Amino acid sequence: MNKTRTANDTENPEFVSGQMGIYNISASPLLAEALKPGATYSQVTLALEALLRLASKGLSGDTTAYAQYQSELLNLHLPGEPHTEPTRRWLASQVYLMEDNFAPALTEFNVLPVEQFREKVDAEIAARTRVKHPMSVHLFQGAPPRQDVRFFLKHHWIRSYNFYTLLAELAFHFEAIEDASVFYRNLYGEAGAEVAERSHPALLSHLMTYFDIPQRVDYSALHPLEKAYLNNRIRCVRHTDVAWGLALLYAIESVSCVNHRRIYELLQSLGVPEEASEFHRLHGTQDEIDTEEMWQLIAKLAPGESFQRMFMQSLARHFAINQAYFDMLWQEMQKQSNHNP
Ligand SMILES: [Fe+2]
Repeated sequence: MNKTRTANDTENPEFVSGQMGIYNISASPLLAEALKPGATYSQVTLALEALLRLASKGLSGDTTAYAQYQSELLNLHLPGEPHTEPTRRWLASQVYLMEDNFAPALTEFNVLPVEQFREKVDAEIAARTRVKHPMSVHLFQGAPPRQDVRFFLKHHWIRSYNFYTLLAELAFHFEAIEDASVFYRNLYGEAGAEVAERSHPALLSHLMTYFDIPQRVDYSALHPLEKAYLNNRIRCVRHTDVAWGLALLYAIESVSCVNHRRIYELLQSLGVPEEASEFHRLHGTQDEIDTEEMWQLIAKLAPGESFQRMFMQSLARHFAINQAYFDMLWQEMQKQSNHNP
C-alpha cells in the first residue's frame, strides 16, 4: 500500500477542494502512512506538506487548523514506536521552521553587556509573573474550594511530571561536559539522586494520589492551548539554536522556587500531609542553585547579538503561550465551579 499520492489527487476523499486551487488536506491519514515501516520518501513529503499547510493556516488565525496542528505536533513529540522516531523528529523540526517564520520581530532590540542582559531578562520574567494572574490570586490569596485546587494540580502534573525530559533534550546540544553537566547535575536531583523513590515525578505522584488525580495523561483530550504550551517546551529544547531552550528553562527554573513555595503554603493551609506535600516543600528551596548554574552557562554565550535576540524571542513566545494557557485554565476552572457550586 505504498501507492504514491499527490496533492492534486482530487479523487481521494482526504482532499477537499478549497479556494483558489488550494486543497485542505487532513494531515492525520498522511502522517499515519508516513510513519509506517517502509514508507516512501514521497509519502513522508506529502505528510509534511499537509502538516505545514495546517500549521500555516493555524498560525494565520484559523482556530480549527491551530487545534489540529497542535494535536499533530504533540503526536509527533510524544514517545511512540522507536522506528518512527527519526521521521517524527524531522517532521517536527520542519514545523518549528514554519513557526519561526510566524514569530513576530522584536521591537526595540539592542545587544547589551552580559550583566545588563541578565537584568533585562530577569525584569522581563518578573513582569510576566503568574503571581498576578487572576487564577493565582484566587488560589493563593483567596479561599479556593478543594475542587479548584484539584483542577489546578491536575494540570500542574500534566506540565511538570516529565520535566526531566526537557533537561535531557537540552543537555544533548552541549558538546563540552562542563556545559552539559549543568543539566546532568539537575537531572541527578530530578531522578532522586541515589534513591529512585525520591525522584521528583515519584514525589509529585503522592500528591496526585492524595487528590485522587489520575497519573496517566490522556493527551488527545487536552485543550489545544495546553497542547500548544507542551509543544512549545519540547520545541525549545530540541531547537538547534540553544538560546531557545536555555531561555525556556531559565524562565521556568528562575520562578520555580517562588511558585512552588506558594503552592506548598496552599497545601499546608488545606492540611495536606507531609508526604503528599514533599515535592513542593523541596522545590520551594532548591531550584535557586540550578538557576545560578544555568545562568553561568547562559553568560558564556550571551555576548553574541544573535544569541540575545533568539533568547528574547524565546521568552516572548513562551510568555505569550503561557498567558493564553493560564487564561484558558482560569476560564475552565470558573466554568467547573459554576456547574458544581
Ligand atoms: Fe524537580
